[in-house]
Amino acid sequence: MRLAARLQKLQSNVFSLMDEAKGRARRSGLTVVDLSLGSSDIAPPPAALAQLKASVDDSTSHGYLLFQGTTNFRKACAQWYFERFGIEVNPETEILPLIGSQEGTALIPLAVMNPGDFALLLDPGYPSHIGGVHLAGGQIYPLALKPEQGYLPELEAIPQEVLEQSRLLILSYPHNPTAATATQAFFAHAVDFCRRHGIVLVHDFPYSDFVLEGERAPSIFQADTKREVAIEFFSFSKSYHMGGFRIGFAIGNHELITALSQVKANINFCPYRGILDAAEVALSTHQDYIDQAMAIFRGRRDSAIAALAEIGWPAPKPLATMYLWTPVPKAWKGKSVDFCVALVEATGVALAPGSGFGDSGEGYVRFALVRDEEVLRESILKIAAFLKALD
Ligand SMILES: Cc1ncc(COP(=O)(O)O)c(C=O)c1O
Repeated sequence: MRLAARLQKLQSNVFSLMDEAKGRARRSGLTVVDLSLGSSDIAPPPAALAQLKASVDDSTSHGYLLFQGTTNFRKACAQWYFERFGIEVNPETEILPLIGSQEGTALIPLAVMNPGDFALLLDPGYPSHIGGVHLAGGQIYPLALKPEQGYLPELEAIPQEVLEQSRLLILSYPHNPTAATATQAFFAHAVDFCRRHGIVLVHDFPYSDFVLEGERAPSIFQADTKREVAIEFFSFSKSYHMGGFRIGFAIGNHELITALSQVKANINFCPYRGILDAAEVALSTHQDYIDQAMAIFRGRRDSAIAALAEIGWPAPKPLATMYLWTPVPKAWKGKSVDFCVALVEATGVALAPGSGFGDSGEGYVRFALVRDEEVLRESILKIAAFLKALD
């Protein structure tokens, strides 16, 4: 069958290789401990679940919900955002519900790029950022992130000829996979850069609440105070552990919100209204819920780092996100996929190979801390046995 050429560019071989390896591990009788996906094991807020159950019994919730969602949902997002960041946004013109922040990053290139235009993407970065640009026929200029620069991109090093054709910059901090954080000063620099070069700035912000230590992660609109160049994507998947519910929202420049909703209206309606109602309730959850989850993830981070140190595999301590991002063991240098495939086949422990997040991710692996401390420690012992057997 003759299929579209763009499919070639969408193939994410690394993650399909890992899926196949997990399948082989299961078929060989191993229990797979999947630390390769950032899918939280914590329960969503009980009041949100109760609301979803109540909505199911309300027959008025069963019909189509158009792409703008409900007024109450958008108002709840605006209220939540004001309480967090002290910035007022208009729920009628500056907010759009999304089927997860992934929908936002995948569709925004269709709204702002013409074929051949460049998007400036973090490398390593979240895979759907790349996919969206390919769907829009765009070109990618990867911004290689380096540990010695705190995994922040060097915007001034982008060649002039690329800048002239660039329409989009996607940032995302706290960052998946490196767990790096950005300051408001860096955002101010990025906003100024985008203003100077006529570039749309997307800030993918699903880890807005996932700060384990230190100050609250800044919003891009603390820098783009007049909402001139930016759009920001929020998610319920991480803050409220509702990844399977597929719900998020965008806040941003009115023109960008309108352009994105024009694209979205051709592809999707909103998710089921009961999910929006549940998400609205989640937004009013007491801060204690988030603090408790962060305490759990801090404990997991510390246990996993201690267990890794004991087996002679030191890992940097992240201040945010649910991930450890650490160099692959020396014997597997430059072979992160081979390492992760061999590891899951031998032990059932699945990690994410760094190269799955871009060329600059090679040489690293990512642990998602989505199991309890005991399981993490047992998994690291299995990794130790695997490494020792190869010595
Ligand atoms: C940077 C980033 N963006 C988007 C997503 C997906 O978020 P959502 O579930 O809201 O689509 C993730 C999930 O891991 C992520 O790490």
